[in-house]
Amino acid sequence: MSSDVIIRAIQASDRADVCRIWTTGMEQSKLAVPKVMRGWFMGKMNQFRDLSLAQDGDVGPDGANLLETYGDKGDRRMFVALMGAPEVVVGCCAVKIGMDEKAVEPESGLCSIWRMSVDETYRGHGIATKLMAKCEDWARGTGRAVMRLYTINPVAAKFYVDRMGYAVVDQFQVVKFPIVRRFVPPVRVYEKALTTGEA
Ligand SMILES: CC(C)(COP(=O)(O)OP(=O)(O)OC[C@H]1O[C@@H](n2cnc3c(N)ncnc32)[C@H](O)[C@@H]1OP(=O)(O)O)[C@@H](O)C(=O)NCCC(=O)NCCS
Repeated sequence: MSSDVIIRAIQASDRADVCRIWTTGMEQSKLAVPKVMRGWFMGKMNQFRDLSLAQDGDVGPDGANLLETYGDKGDRRMFVALMGAPEVVVGCCAVKIGMDEKAVEPESGLCSIWRMSVDETYRGHGIATKLMAKCEDWARGTGRAVMRLYTINPVAAKFYVDRMGYAVVDQFQVVKFPIVRRFVPPVRVYEKALTTGEA
């Protein structure tokens, strides 16, 4: 199946599909917390989602801002995965220079991954692996030798570590109260050295 996947830079016609795949993909993050906490936790995640989908958000309503945010810019790019005939968008992943999602950081010596998501129907077939390989190649092309990313999602963490060779280098708490921290894991920062020739 993964041999039929095409990876290319995002185009205007992909925006609504990317928006849908990214927003529905957030649901998997609920696995980070015990069942009794999931309603509360997803409420927090949805606040974050709504900021991205706002008129001035990086994704925008129905993906309207995706090209403005991740189009052909020197410091960032979004790639999409397509399958089938006619082709349908089945995944997305963005890469940028630096670790600040919004800022332009030409002095930064590293790149970071954002908005990685694969349509649930197509998971487990190597699509995210191909998207990551493309983003890592893009990062190498900028001369950066380190990639970083954040996640709290345990399925994504397993993918980044076991499949892609990333390791935890830092972590931070997203909740204030010690009692809640017992049930909500920290967001972890993952890193990988992008040696030449390695995908
Ligand atoms: C994480 C995600 C991107 C993986 O996409 P994918 O296309 O299924 O990944 P691939 O097929 O390329 O890689 C599969 C590997 O990922 C991990 N993985 C994928 N699905 C998994 C699952 N349900 N449970 C455990 N591990 C899983 C495994 O390491 C697996 O390797 P294996 O098949 O050798 O066990 C996908 O599950 C997703 O879109 N999640 C929701 C969005 C999200 O949270 N993204 C991360 C934001 S930081």
